[in-house]
Amino acid sequence: MLRTAVLVSGGGTNLQAILDAKRGGRIPHAEIALVIASNPSAYALQRAEQAGVPGTVVQKAKDEAVEAYGERLLAVLRENRIDLCVLAGFLTILPENVIRAYDHRILNIHPSLIPSFCGKGFYGLRVHEAALARGVKLTGATVHFVNEIPDGGDIIAQKAVAVQPGDTPGILQRRVMEEAEWLLLPAALEDVARTIENGGN
Ligand code: GAR
Repeated sequence: MLRTAVLVSGGGTNLQAILDAKRGGRIPHAEIALVIASNPSAYALQRAEQAGVPGTVVQKAKDEAVEAYGERLLAVLRENRIDLCVLAGFLTILPENVIRAYDHRILNIHPSLIPSFCGKGFYGLRVHEAALARGVKLTGATVHFVNEIPDGGDIIAQKAVAVQPGDTPGILQRRVMEEAEWLLLPAALEDVARTIENGGN
């Protein structure tokens, strides 16, 4: 079983979907070994505690060099013998030293159909605001590997979700979570973990 860390910044509904899928036996190839929050007030930390998963905070200090922050993150990952990372609403840009150390071992969930509405500045509600402003009829979610280009790594899985008349960013965000993110992320985690355990990439 691959020791997996889930990195979070906020409410942690995607973390919850992973914890629920794990408890339901749907992620047999990954152990949820650690939750890392980018700030101490992330509600996701409480979800981890309720599930009996260790949680910790690694926060980037304002004047800290990106590489130094990355080294601190790497130290925590190595101490905990982490094989695989999942960014589940993690809103800090990951330093390149971490990305290099975990090449094709970091997954991210993004709330649009990449390459639409992604990259620098597109996160959380902003993504749905942009989709509504453009008037798309379909949006969705994407799970991809993390590389040095924001939202630019290899795509693992995508699911489309219909935009409905009268949608607000908040309503659309919720539908994308319910119909796509919460299903896609646990399934992608299991797929990747199983592939790695079976000797694939
Ligand atoms: C999710 O919608 C996730 O896709 C998005 O933040 C939200 C976190 O919610 N991530 C991004 O926008 C990354 N670019 P959660 O904390 O309830 O899982």
